[in-house]
Amino acid sequence: MEIILATFVLLAAAVLFFYVYSRYKLNYWKRRGVESLPTDFIFGNFKDAVLFRTAPGYHLGDLHKAARSEAPFVGFYIFHKPCLLLRDPEIIKHFMIRDFDNFSDRHFAGSNQKDSIGMKNLFGLKNPMWKYLRSKITPTLTKGKLRQMFPLMMETGGPMMEFLKNQPTDINNTKLVDAQDLSYKYTTDLIASVALGTKMDSFHYPNGEFTTAVAEFFHGFKRMVALVMVFFTPELVELLGTNILFNSSFVKKVFWDAMENREKSGKKRGDFIDSLLQLKYGDQNPDYKFEGDNLLYQSGTFFSGFESSSSCMSFTLMELSKHLEYQQLAREDINRAIDKYGWTYEAFNDMRYLDQAIAEGLRLYPPVSTIDRYTRQDYEIPGTDITIEKGTPIYISLYGMHEDPRFFDEPQVYNPDRFFEDNPISDAYMPFGLGPRMCIGSKVGTLHAKVVLAMLLREYEVWQSQENKSTLDTRSTFTAAADGIKLHFKRIVR
Ligand code: HEM
Repeated sequence: MEIILATFVLLAAAVLFFYVYSRYKLNYWKRRGVESLPTDFIFGNFKDAVLFRTAPGYHLGDLHKAARSEAPFVGFYIFHKPCLLLRDPEIIKHFMIRDFDNFSDRHFAGSNQKDSIGMKNLFGLKNPMWKYLRSKITPTLTKGKLRQMFPLMMETGGPMMEFLKNQPTDINNTKLVDAQDLSYKYTTDLIASVALGTKMDSFHYPNGEFTTAVAEFFHGFKRMVALVMVFFTPELVELLGTNILFNSSFVKKVFWDAMENREKSGKKRGDFIDSLLQLKYGDQNPDYKFEGDNLLYQSGTFFSGFESSSSCMSFTLMELSKHLEYQQLAREDINRAIDKYGWTYEAFNDMRYLDQAIAEGLRLYPPVSTIDRYTRQDYEIPGTDITIEKGTPIYISLYGMHEDPRFFDEPQVYNPDRFFEDNPISDAYMPFGLGPRMCIGSKVGTLHAKVVLAMLLREYEVWQSQENKSTLDTRSTFTAAADGIKLHFKRIVR
């Protein structure tokens, strides 16, 4: 009896302790005079995301929407960790641009970046390495380099169009195809070609070792769990150590074979391997040397980078499939440019309406929907007497910003005309992030999406039927559809 009583008292004390401790932790923002959202005692504000009930990035958008509509920032908690969500373009500019030095690192992935291929590159490195690396990688993605990569993008589209042509048709001469899967396969081959210097054909060899490894990278459950940790609980990444994101053994082999062959042959192919060899034999900096695995990690940039442009292409195509009038305008734009310049880099620079359609796709479905930073020193938020402490994670939700009615009329409506020529676009639009740490691959990513859209829309009319509506993958930190994006394709007879 005494034991039962003692156990009960202990349990009650533990519960009481947890209650008092949680209350104290979850009052952090209140104590600092910052507006915050109602919380759960265990999960803070992240319950639905942690339990994969909603996509984590989308969940952050829900937190943005749950805040008082005029609030420029709001405090929230991931479990008991206090985080700040910025929701006003002017405040965001202070953090991301004017006071960049204090926010020049990302919060994600922890300070030691134990994960290999995905993090020890621009995405994950902290200063001073990041600054040096950025200055070296920027010249590998100039217009001139893009022009060299362009033929590789076109070449990669050949097997895709062949595959599509060979898909079975129904009695109305229509094919039902998963556009997200189509895009992933194209992207897998593009990564092989541009980042690893090797030709692959995922359309005709879908079970190949490389294609299978990249498919696991794009939608494997293990990586999805890992990404939630990387973005939102990076402390756990440090605990678990290396290789949680991706089994990269086959990728390593392909990469090193390509490097060795290219070094031996001295040939140029216009891909990223050419640029890496230049960096390898260029001047070196003790902060970060282009040698050994550091070369491989740079290729890793293209895995997540092209994953984003793949998502951009799939979701833009989905919206164009729901809005046939915009699809027709995009097709006319594509045809006009190609009739004028042929399938050249110049033609793609001239597709203005397609640019608008993509920009609006990125607004509604930002592939990287969360931007994060780490507070290096205590910081007084301009125009307030609120000081946030060193180490505080800072987040911006692009779903939140892009769907905020303060910044966009009828924010849920897909309308490429928003981006027509001189129409003013709110500073809340930031699909590539902003400031010195914004996306380095925006041009190459947009070109990737344009090439695939142009190839598909020139040859096919595409639409989505009611029963095939797509939903967001609740497990995915990057924007992805749960069961693909099933679209009807009908060949255009000329
Ligand atoms: C439509 C396609 C893409 C979108 C929407 C996109 C979006 C983003 C966003 C939102 C960020 C975070 C920016 C910030 O923190 O302020 C980012 C970072 C980055 N992106 Fe992209 N991205 C795309 C394509 C690519 C491609 C193709 C590459 C490959 C070269 C790439 C490479 C990077 C790198 C290296 C960073 C980290 C930059 C740094 O920290 O210095 N992205 N991207």
